[in-house]
Amino acid sequence: TSAVPVIAIDGPSASGKGTVAQRVAKALGYHYLDSGAIYRIAALAALRRGISWQDEAALAKLAQELDICFLDDEIYLDGEIITEAVRTEEISRGASEVAVHPALRRALLNLQQSFRKAPGLVADGRDMATVVFPDAQTKIFLTASAEVRAERRYKQLIEKGIHANLAEILQDLQTRDARDSQRAVAPLQKSESARLLETSDLSIDQAVEAILDYSRADAGK
Ligand code: CDP
Ligand code: CDP
Repeated sequence: TSAVPVIAIDGPSASGKGTVAQRVAKALGYHYLDSGAIYRIAALAALRRGISWQDEAALAKLAQELDICFLDDEIYLDGEIITEAVRTEEISRGASEVAVHPALRRALLNLQQSFRKAPGLVADGRDMATVVFPDAQTKIFLTASAEVRAERRYKQLIEKGIHANLAEILQDLQTRDARDSQRAVAPLQKSESARLLETSDLSIDQAVEAILDYSRADAGK
């Protein structure tokens, strides 16, 4: 149902997409899709079933069989809570490795589009505006400098009591951004029709307000 409005928020790792998208969704009473979680789940499920992150055909088949559920801030795979298990560095890397395969991306398309329900959807990822919801009402490319993003991820981990090394985080983030930007299919890139929101000097509240303003402007068009 293309009449249901979508706010698509794409951008590199740790730019604040998830945090900001969830706040925007809450403010508008919209549904929320964390598309990165879906690639993370695919990587975790493959690891558990002994399927290589390089085996495109097996990954695409696996994607059709995934029993995924998002409920009350928890993610379930085959009935088991995997919310924390998909956030590790290993699975972050795995997600971006499986995400290069066109057959896997195709297999995950319907699942992502099924989140579009009234009264609206806020979706965050890499190709929300370019591939999954090209007719989105509002398209945002959310970014920040690599240094600021690494700092944000570092603080996030320390606050959770997880040991972290800033230099390693910066390195991992740049490796993953390069893979995500350079892949042949659905690379991370700003859609021509997307608005650029550079958040290096913006608070979470300021970023949320800017997106709500854009969405009000777009809804009135
Ligand atoms: O989803 P994504 O990887 O893009 O980022 P995130 O996990 O939502 O945000 C990474 C961290 O940056 C979180 O701890 C946010 O609270 C923080 N953040 C921030 O400090 N300032 C912003 N303008 C946006 C996010
Ligand atoms: O939180 P962070 O921004 O670090 O990562 P994420 O949004 O959870 O995405 C994990 C990985 O999944 C990314 O590095 C991408 O390779 C892939 N991904 C994608 O290819 N397309 C999307 N729409 C979302 C994520």
